[in-house]
Amino acid sequence: MKDILQELEDRRRVARQGGGERRVAAQHAKGKLSARERIELLLDEGSFEEFDMFVAHRSSDFGMEKDRPPGDGVVTGWGTVNGRLIYVFSQDFTVFGGSLSETHAQKICKIMDMALQNGAPVIGMNDSGGARIQEGVNSLAGYAEVFQRNIMASGVVPQISLIMGPCAGGAVYSPAMTDFIFMVKDSSYMFVTGPDVVKTVTNEVVTAEELGGASTHTKKSSVADGAYENDVEALAETRRLIDFLPLSNRERAPVRPFFDNPLRVEPSLDTLIPDNPHQPYDMKELILKLADEGDFFEIQAAFAGNIVIGFIRIEGQSVGVVANQPMVLAGCLDIDSSRKAARFVRFCDAFEIPILTLVDVPGFLPGTSQEYGGVIKHGAKLLFAYGEATVPKVTVITRKAYGGAYDVMASKHLRGDFNYAWPTAEIAVMGAKGATEIIYRGKTAEEIAERATEYEARFATPFVAAERGFIDEVIMPQSTRRRISRAFASLRGKKLSNPWKKHDNIPL
Ligand code: HXC
Repeated sequence: MKDILQELEDRRRVARQGGGERRVAAQHAKGKLSARERIELLLDEGSFEEFDMFVAHRSSDFGMEKDRPPGDGVVTGWGTVNGRLIYVFSQDFTVFGGSLSETHAQKICKIMDMALQNGAPVIGMNDSGGARIQEGVNSLAGYAEVFQRNIMASGVVPQISLIMGPCAGGAVYSPAMTDFIFMVKDSSYMFVTGPDVVKTVTNEVVTAEELGGASTHTKKSSVADGAYENDVEALAETRRLIDFLPLSNRERAPVRPFFDNPLRVEPSLDTLIPDNPHQPYDMKELILKLADEGDFFEIQAAFAGNIVIGFIRIEGQSVGVVANQPMVLAGCLDIDSSRKAARFVRFCDAFEIPILTLVDVPGFLPGTSQEYGGVIKHGAKLLFAYGEATVPKVTVITRKAYGGAYDVMASKHLRGDFNYAWPTAEIAVMGAKGATEIIYRGKTAEEIAERATEYEARFATPFVAAERGFIDEVIMPQSTRRRISRAFASLRGKKLSNPWKKHDNIPL
């Protein structure tokens, strides 16, 4: 009996060694943690339960039968984050470069199936040389099995991908279908074809970092939702994000203890809007003042800064925030900001997270690059996302709400539940100058200026909309946190559904 127990211990020790000391040291030398160290930091201490520690590949080509390390390059299992169930896989670069074989894929699929069945998020830590070259089509089949599960899990359980090393070729498409992608600066990259192929095909010379590093994907492509200094920070921030999310679409997001009065009055907000309507102010200041304890988890902070998205809590409950940012491009909507916000609104709706929309939008960005780039279709994504969302929707217009952008930003007409405006709100088809130049075409400059003042006084206020009931109430800025806390509290029992359909056809 003792021998058998000893054998188990010995086998476990071998499995835990991964690719051996030399390769683990090489991993550390690159500033990267090992697959198991990452899991330890992500999950609550001592909560990890492993699956398939002894699974080995079945390949016999290229002499592979002589090298069958237990675990096959990925550590999988489950544990908890602040006491809540999470499924994880962590690719082990020290074993065949973390490459994906048929059995490696089966291990990932097993925990994805469990996550879907038991209603818990899947967190994938990616660090892999891609398809296991010795396995050929078996490896490709394995990827496709994972892809299919990503698709089935979408909108059912949250899926988060951490890119902590290479992620190249078709392998990128699994993270691409998850809800959030976080990268580690300087040690991770993602691309469909690497620098060598790029050079051969297009003659462009580019480094892996330039082509698909964290900076590229958080600032240019928007493939990734955040970039962190190192593995430790990425894992800590992932724990922070998980606390905002429900385990599945069958549950509500957790209610956390809060120490901030929901009725807190914030007099400084009464002077947030500058006297000059063309002067910007920082919308993030408003978000922080509305949030419990000023805690805001921002998503895609480095991309399309003209819209700000992320999670806060109000009375301990998760709320998704979408806010125009007057500091960047005057807060206008454009292709990038529409895409960014639309996906976020859909995530919140899929997981029953109420949405707070803060509006200061002068309209859509004009120009040939926007039109040629399809701003019509991309803008429609945000319109569609808001219109189909059935979660509680509370909107506050702080200043500008012009033209189509007024409609798009969770207006009353898109089933907004509470639509508030500050007294500084300007709700109109367009700015006074532009409007009068059209209506009074051919008149002198003085006449137009006079009419513009008239137009401004009549339309650049919240009161015309309030007269029609499109705005439920014009509120004092200082009372905004109290108003929205009470609004969300009153909406906890909201029940709204859309007509039956197989699925919609959002303009992609
Ligand atoms: C098998 C692999 C491997 C792979 C790396 N290794 N990639 N083994 N299949 N795909 C092994 C190496 O042989 C080596 O083994 C160890 O992992 C570490 O690799 P190094 O090259 O020494 O590491 P490094 O210098 O850091 O370079 C990492 C790398 C490079 C950039 C990822 O290894 C690389 O270019 N690998 C090939 C990438 C690739 O072409 N993959 C297929 C892409 S196509 P030892 O024993 O020496 O430690 C694809 C299609 C997916 O993925 C389609 C899905 C639909």
